[in-house]
Amino acid sequence: METIAFTWKNQIFSALDQRKLPHQEVWINCKNITDVHAAIKDMVVRGAPLIGITALYGLLISSIQNTQHDLSKLEKDVTFIKTARPTAVNLAYEADRYLAFFKQNLGINDDWDKTLQLAEKFIVDVIQKLDQDNLKMAQFAEKELATLYGDRKYKVVTLCNTGALACGPRGTAFGVIDYLSQKGKIEHVFAAETRPYLQGGRLTAYELKKAGIPYSVFVEGAMFHLFENNKIDAVFIGADRIVSNGDTANKIGSATLSLVAKHFNVPFYVVAPTSSFDISLNIGSEIEIEYRPEEEVTSCQGVKIAPDSSRAYNPSFDVTPHQQISAIFCENAMIKPVERVNVRNAVTGA
Ligand code: MRU
Repeated sequence: METIAFTWKNQIFSALDQRKLPHQEVWINCKNITDVHAAIKDMVVRGAPLIGITALYGLLISSIQNTQHDLSKLEKDVTFIKTARPTAVNLAYEADRYLAFFKQNLGINDDWDKTLQLAEKFIVDVIQKLDQDNLKMAQFAEKELATLYGDRKYKVVTLCNTGALACGPRGTAFGVIDYLSQKGKIEHVFAAETRPYLQGGRLTAYELKKAGIPYSVFVEGAMFHLFENNKIDAVFIGADRIVSNGDTANKIGSATLSLVAKHFNVPFYVVAPTSSFDISLNIGSEIEIEYRPEEEVTSCQGVKIAPDSSRAYNPSFDVTPHQQISAIFCENAMIKPVERVNVRNAVTGA
């Protein structure tokens, strides 16, 4: 069964509250840009591509409510929405391209209402393209695994959540897994629980279950043992920001997973659309890493674990060095080896 992360009806953006999944399916209505900002900041919606899509709808709502047709107000809201979360580059990327699209079309037709209609269609097109792009990435991955292993089923590992709940349409790393599964090529998925927010244990498991794909959730501490005792064929993860040398920021634990995969000679793949690339940055250490509230570590799902007043260290992302990545699949290419020139060519479509 398909997972739906959001709806857009009667000028209201409704988001499935991912904080409540998998046990409750609660929808939150975002009626203005402040609601949308809060939904991203508080992780009602999350995952790099979906954060980008949510920002687009937030700016559409802002433009609809802009009865004075004041472009500077829209520019302010673009700046505001970009502050909701720092690491996933899709947020700034989509916000900036919405503004550029809106300004350009308003300049051409000088008609705010007409521009609104075009902007709504622009967002639908962005989502449709993301869906098609995810399919292309899955096909690149299918080819790569067939070259490595021939025609058989695979055991794969993933971390965090990269399905519809993170991407809107079919998903990046999850999109690969789902596509392979539909072709009868997945034997088993090992999904990292992804402490502290449990995107793997709650959300990926929810999506795998819905899709009828066999899976086990594992705690990150079991990584080494998992690879030692199971013949893993590949790791697929998503990305929140990939810089020009291929260094990749993704959910905390990804870099550790890459080291374990390398130790066992298992290919480690990143799957992400070009909207997750930031070639204005040179190397991974330039990426701003989000640090989240300490309570996310000292508690679990609202239940206190550590003694009162315990401090916690809670980076939400880490950066996997490009040398650790076997290939990156984006819509334009399989980037292999992961080197600066190949990244640039893939992003620019050269
Ligand atoms: O903090 P989150 O849940 O928004 O983290 C983002 C992610 O979902 C991941 O890091 C993911 O693996 C890449 S986005 C498809």
